[in-house]
Amino acid sequence: MRLDKLLANMGYGSRKEVKQLLKKGAVKVNDVPVKDAASHVEPHKDVVSILGEQVVYKEFIYLMMNKPPGVVSATEDYRDRTVVDLLEPEDRHFDPFPVGRLDKDTEGLLLLTNDGKLTHNLLSPKKEVPKTYFARIEGVVTEEDILLFAQGLTLEDGFETKPGILRILDSNAISEIELTITEGKFHQVKRMFEAVGKRVIYLKRLSMGALELDDELNLGEYRELTDEELSSILTP
Ligand code: URA
Repeated sequence: MRLDKLLANMGYGSRKEVKQLLKKGAVKVNDVPVKDAASHVEPHKDVVSILGEQVVYKEFIYLMMNKPPGVVSATEDYRDRTVVDLLEPEDRHFDPFPVGRLDKDTEGLLLLTNDGKLTHNLLSPKKEVPKTYFARIEGVVTEEDILLFAQGLTLEDGFETKPGILRILDSNAISEIELTITEGKFHQVKRMFEAVGKRVIYLKRLSMGALELDDELNLGEYRELTDEELSSILTP
């Protein structure tokens, strides 16, 4: 890869700005100053540094966000703020996109990446990746609901869902539940509860496959996945 491309890809400025840095002698490759923007480097082998600071090359970025309510799971929106708007410029630079959608009012685990293959693997209906949600429900959630969810439900448009595992945490006028489903249809959790005559009033995603929301993350905060988390979802 060309040296100027590598530096620009890693967020050190435009190709033009990077050329200025090179001209000033700020860049070394394997401890040797290099001024030629077109010189070739092996991103995973050569040690590139700028003013003594090593440039760590990476192609992909994997971010776990605790999505806050009020922002949309998209890269751009003409009206609302998006989850990508919440990222620091050095992360946005990698052009990450959300893996699947959470509704604007839904909170919780959202993975953002620029790795299309991983995204496909996590979202492909064939892979049946389990997703677990915590929800508050208007109405008393009953043992009968557990059975109905376990059989699969018919949504209002006739779609037959796969079985969902419903756990009741608190059964009251406002109930609290956890639900694990392996599909990701539009508004699926809300529509499954509508199918049993109840309404979701709060929804938060807790996990996706082996990836669990880090409870240290406040709403709107995010961090890179650890190596362990990453390998758990790359090889599910
Ligand atoms: N199901 C929903 O209804 N909404 C979400 O955001 C995610 C799952």
